[in-house]
Amino acid sequence: MIVGVAYKIRQFWTTPVPLKIPLMPAPLTQKGVVFRMAREVIYFESLFKSNKWIWIFAVLFHVGLLLVLLRHLRYFTEPIWFWVVLVQPFGIYAGYVMVAGLIGLWARRFLVARVRYVSSLSDHLMLALLVMIGISGLSMKYVAPTDIIAVKAFFLGLLRFDIQPLPSDPSLLLHLGLVVSLMIIFPFSKLIHVPGIFFSPSLNQTDDAREKRHLPTWSAKLDNHGGNL
Ligand code: HEM
Repeated sequence: MIVGVAYKIRQFWTTPVPLKIPLMPAPLTQKGVVFRMAREVIYFESLFKSNKWIWIFAVLFHVGLLLVLLRHLRYFTEPIWFWVVLVQPFGIYAGYVMVAGLIGLWARRFLVARVRYVSSLSDHLMLALLVMIGISGLSMKYVAPTDIIAVKAFFLGLLRFDIQPLPSDPSLLLHLGLVVSLMIIFPFSKLIHVPGIFFSPSLNQTDDAREKRHLPTWSAKLDNHGGNL
């Protein structure tokens, strides 16, 4: 996952951006771009403006996921940071919230004809994977509890190259197997939008085409007639 994400970021970084195409109205300064991007990442501003239903489900899923992941930090840290302890009770409800958001986003792919038409198998499978991760996680909490102390000992052991036994409950193995699958496909699927959004020209460009000539990086290597120097 780390190598794949680094590879994709390098690819995004070095892809030429030949045109000045900020989505208007766009900020006039670089500082404005930072604010615009922050609004987009923190509360999905453009989605809010375009579709309130999708926005609600997207926020439920992403905020739920964030809290769930913060709650999981306790399995990888010893001693546990105080703010991770504070997050714990919220993290449990966040598991439900995350799954509810995903079901809303998935329902839309069946119920809205236009969206159904553009949905591919991979869109459905990605949602199924995330829902199954959530449900297997919640089932470990409420249906068939696993030995969390042993899970933590295993992961701390992994970090320290001191391999410990992993409990073999089906729900834990399912949960971890699905998470591994998610980590493998992450860099090469649409999930790569997480770092990708920062490279979106329509969001990260300033509206200064009249003040400054836009020179794509590769144009510096061309002579005035378009030939290579
Ligand atoms: C190696 C990584 C992971 C490990 C070791 C792990 C382990 C666990 C364990 C042991 C539980 C049960 C918690 C309890 O009984 O209190 C759990 C719950 C859960 N997991 Fe994971 N998990 C991992 C990654 C993930 C990821 C990437 C997601 C989401 C995409 C996720 C979503 C959930 C959810 C929604 C719950 C139920 C709510 C909660 O207890 O926080 N897990 N996980």
